[in-house]
Amino acid sequence: MRGDLERVLFDEPAIHRRLDDLAAQISNDYRALELTVIAVLHGSLMFVADLLRRIPLPLKLDCLSVASYHGKGQSSGEVVFKLPTVGPSGGGQMTLPDIAGRDVLILDDILDSGQTLATVREKLETAEPQSIRVCVLLSKKKQRAREVDPDYVGFEIEDEFVVGYGLDFRERYRNLPYIGVLRKELLEGG
Ligand code: IMP
Ligand code: MG
Repeated sequence: MRGDLERVLFDEPAIHRRLDDLAAQISNDYRALELTVIAVLHGSLMFVADLLRRIPLPLKLDCLSVASYHGKGQSSGEVVFKLPTVGPSGGGQMTLPDIAGRDVLILDDILDSGQTLATVREKLETAEPQSIRVCVLLSKKKQRAREVDPDYVGFEIEDEFVVGYGLDFRERYRNLPYIGVLRKELLEGG
């Protein structure tokens, strides 16, 4: 898989050093609050596991699953929630995590067009939490389709397609322990 990368951006030690800082900042900001973390799967899986183990506060963890179609490394803008439903199969009501009155921190892998995080945030606001903040491991420097102002950012990166450490291209590369730029011809290949 290393051969499919143009270059490595952040190796394992660099990621872990940055997580130490982020976790210290979050732990300090939430020291007097009861934190509820909402992880946006699947891309944030490694990030969430490594970050939360560095936060020595009592907290609750819930997960959301969304699909935003990224066939060719481009966001289509359509964000579909994959939540459990209650009621008649297929036509049931989506169940959001119970976050009423809670201090919520959304964790996601990467901020790209902003569609996913803007939609997730809006959806969670309907459940009337006390507060909502957003933490992303990576933020692309670019003009966004939807404005999202993350409260915590691991690394700012150029507008390039990256994989590894949870991030995929067509479900591959998530298990790479580092983050790198995928070779352009692989993106264009389909
Ligand atoms: P957005 O809705 O365009 O901000 O995209 C957010 C989602 O698209 C992320 O949670 C990722 O799953 C995916 N994504 C965006 N950019 C990249 C990338 O460079 N590599 C891998 N996945 C990406
Ligand atoms: Mg993805």
